[in-house]
Amino acid sequence: MVSRVIPVASFDLLLFGATGDLAQRKIWPGLFHRYIAGQFDENCRLIGVSRSDLPREAFQDKVRASISGPDEDDAEIAKFLELVDYVSLDATGERGWDKLQGVVREGVVRAFYLSVAPRFFGPIARRLEEHGIATPDSRIVVEKPFGNDLASAQELNAELRACFQEHQIYRIDHYLGKETVQNLMALRFANSLFEPLWNSSHIDHVQITVAESLSVEGRGEYYDQSGAMRDMVQNHLMQLLCLTAMEPPSKFTSNAVRNEKLKVIEALEPVLDQDIARGQYRGNANQGSYLEHCGDPESRTESFVAMKVNVASWRWAGTPFYLRTGKCLRERASEIAVHFRSPPHMIFPGIDAPDGNVLVIRLQPDEGITLHTTIKDPGPGGMRLKEASLDMTFADSLSDEEQPQDAYERLIMDVIRGDQTLFMRGDEVEAAWAWADPIIAGWAASGRKPGPYDLGSSGPEDALLLMHRDGRRWRPIGS
Ligand code: BG6
Repeated sequence: MVSRVIPVASFDLLLFGATGDLAQRKIWPGLFHRYIAGQFDENCRLIGVSRSDLPREAFQDKVRASISGPDEDDAEIAKFLELVDYVSLDATGERGWDKLQGVVREGVVRAFYLSVAPRFFGPIARRLEEHGIATPDSRIVVEKPFGNDLASAQELNAELRACFQEHQIYRIDHYLGKETVQNLMALRFANSLFEPLWNSSHIDHVQITVAESLSVEGRGEYYDQSGAMRDMVQNHLMQLLCLTAMEPPSKFTSNAVRNEKLKVIEALEPVLDQDIARGQYRGNANQGSYLEHCGDPESRTESFVAMKVNVASWRWAGTPFYLRTGKCLRERASEIAVHFRSPPHMIFPGIDAPDGNVLVIRLQPDEGITLHTTIKDPGPGGMRLKEASLDMTFADSLSDEEQPQDAYERLIMDVIRGDQTLFMRGDEVEAAWAWADPIIAGWAASGRKPGPYDLGSSGPEDALLLMHRDGRRWRPIGS
């Protein structure tokens, strides 16, 4: 059988923030998995960069700790660690940059991954350029948050663009690296079944839910500066909305796809205050409340938000998109549920029919796709209808080799390949902030407190009312 892993060209990856939380949890394990999958070989180098003054061996020990596990082979870990080097430097000063310059090689792909706070993006980019480490072909990867409003995002874009061109800049939204999110494009554009129905004539509404069961304990102070809107909606849910609503691009190239996503963001109508519900989780005997976790009893930051969003376009006029995300909800469950309209005429009089068809694209857990249909309730006793699902759980349908990999694995390899399709373009991020800013400003001006909701619930009551008012209801979280 032909291997499904297509090796990438030789590269030097310089990981800034190499000892940080994201690097330990996602980036090092992701690189290791790609290495053992055979996607890159011994001609590649992984250079950790951070402030701590560590010998190479001590740094390798940290990397070892982040990739070791019961299923990992020590011999493979040892081979991987041979590719790992370390340089200590001062991101905003001069220490260490000459050494870094001496470490990078000519003739291989060069990528800088900035897993650091955004205030370091500009200073690091400048120093990479000043020390001749950045070349016209090198790539720079930045993590979210990409600004906390339009003005700060524009500033970051200006700082990066002063040293790199747009085709060199990779802004990560890890949701785009999730297999099911990409599958949404395959579902829509590689099948002829759905696209004719993918419009307001056939779709009643769409629900996009990203529910988390974890609290913000441990990162409450940081989270309180952003809230669910900045942390999740402006980026992750926005990307899901774009991929669901966008027009078919003429081809699957980075700019064709991103042009279509941008058009969706630009077509978003301002969201009315009455179409938004915000919440903060309560505590109980075992767990603290949002206000305790963020450390500010007066905080007005939301740990939950739900809203109705309208896309002003021929395709979507009259079909609202309901977005919902929050912490401490009843389950970790993310999905896009496309609710089709009910049949125009019911030929079975006096029979309770289930709701119209719903196509559910499950992002996590149990990645897969389910189509809820209506069938005859089997057996005698006349014509009764019931709901039945056509279910494809990827774990069941795919072989072990084909199981979805972590989003970071895919995204880092795309950087090396030079494929920006699953990364946000600068104008896209700015458009998303231009849409989000007035909503957030409206909350600040009103001074209203988010409504409380119970731990493990589906969010505050206002979120239910938001739907009920429109004669609709949320799908149960985790259903
Ligand atoms: C991050 C947010 O971007 O995404 C976190 O900052 C959130 O608050 C996380 O928990 C969710 O990612 P995932 O992949 O676990 O759904």
